[in-house]
Amino acid sequence: MAMVGFLQAQNCTNLPASWRHPESRTDFLSADFYREIARVLEAGKFHLAFFDDRLAMPDRYGNDHRHTVEHGIRCVKLDPLVVLMTMGMATRHLGLGATCSTTYYEPFHVARLFATVDLMTEGRAGWNVVTSLNDGEALNMGRREVMEHDLRYDRADEFMEVVLGHWDAWDDDALILDKVSGRFAAADKVHRLDHVGPYFRSRGPFTVPRSAQGHPVIIQAGQSGRGRRFAGRWGEVIFATAPNVEFGKRSYKALKDEAEHAGRDPDSMVICNLVLPVCALTRAAAEDKMALIEQLPLEIDQLSLLSEGLNFDFATKGLDEQLTSEELASFSGLQGIRDRVIAVSGKSNPTVRELMDFSHRGRPDDAVVGGPREVADVLEELFTERACDGFVVAATHVPGGYADFVQYVVPELQRRGLYHSDYSGRTLRENLGLPKPAVGSWKNQARSSSAVSP
Ligand SMILES: Cc1cc2nc3c(=O)[nH]c(=O)nc-3n(C[C@H](O)[C@H](O)[C@H](O)COP(=O)(O)O)c2cc1C
Repeated sequence: MAMVGFLQAQNCTNLPASWRHPESRTDFLSADFYREIARVLEAGKFHLAFFDDRLAMPDRYGNDHRHTVEHGIRCVKLDPLVVLMTMGMATRHLGLGATCSTTYYEPFHVARLFATVDLMTEGRAGWNVVTSLNDGEALNMGRREVMEHDLRYDRADEFMEVVLGHWDAWDDDALILDKVSGRFAAADKVHRLDHVGPYFRSRGPFTVPRSAQGHPVIIQAGQSGRGRRFAGRWGEVIFATAPNVEFGKRSYKALKDEAEHAGRDPDSMVICNLVLPVCALTRAAAEDKMALIEQLPLEIDQLSLLSEGLNFDFATKGLDEQLTSEELASFSGLQGIRDRVIAVSGKSNPTVRELMDFSHRGRPDDAVVGGPREVADVLEELFTERACDGFVVAATHVPGGYADFVQYVVPELQRRGLYHSDYSGRTLRENLGLPKPAVGSWKNQARSSSAVSP
């Protein structure tokens, strides 16, 4: 069972209200804050600490940032890769993943950043590949509006070819470092990419040799048809969401099928489902904790995050006003939220309030609340029923949410033989059971996946 900490380099966790939790640390601008979280996760033998990211604060609601700042709705966002390094220096085994967008950076730049982190952490780096989703990001990064959904993924496919091509530039045995002969590296073992495609040009040779794990682990979380096809082609660790076991099983199989269609071994993909645990020594104590957490969110948290995620200004609508079919079709961000709400509510034109209620966005309503056995039971069922290979664990507050999980749930999972008792390898790939990729191995999947249906 793989375990990933779902982290934010910001003033709150994935739950925006978390900063108001009495036990939340408030020094989120200090390296010590992140080092402490890293130490907690490593004590719990987490495979990976992963930072999400977005290139704008949520200001789509009312086209204004004032409410976001006043209420602390994910308004601080530090650079996740830099924060990641402080955690890498405080740990020895914990994998270290960060998000970076294919829409707003050059592939050479991204390839070099992550390859460098991979070397500096001795093969523990991962890259969460996202295509970005709202106009706020576009406006911060020199564009007028976000690029169309499927086009973002078309570009991202080529982006991956350039990044992986550069990561292949140095053969594993290219470095010689012979001071006597004066040979630094073998010239015939360092290759130029010379990429020219519809979206990108990049020449090379790349300037960073390969790491102990070959190259960083590719993380992905596409949910739409196009997104899942992309995930099936490139993703080695996949983040997924599932409201129940049956949905999770179907989604798990569909993702593994995508990998197979892309010419990959489906076992080379580790699927982790999002989970928000609230745990304590007993169920009653966990329920008390949950009662406090439930008091924290505000209505504006939800409205702001839905506007951000769906790229639609909900301030233009009344709470009990139905969304028209045109409005629903215009959502260009996380379309999976819209589709899920329509499916679960049975309403083809939900109101804004129904969107809030059924999406749970910005609220802890999906939390798994219980003592060690109850929480472990839920995780065990999802895992053994093959709804996932592991979990991406969100926190109601930090570092306490993770400290509780490590204290109460991890030992129970270990006792059941579901979760490792220690790190088995040196690199992130070794600990996740992923093979070290041979130079050029990605090219087979890059060629064959274009035949996959949406
Ligand atoms: C656990 C998890 C973490 C995610 N982290 C990010 C992130 O950091 N930045 C981002 O823009 N999107 C993030 N996403 C969104 C996905 O990358 C993806 O865009 C989303 O699931 C919608 O799928 P689609 O792009 O196929 O429509 C995350 C999704 C999940 C489930």
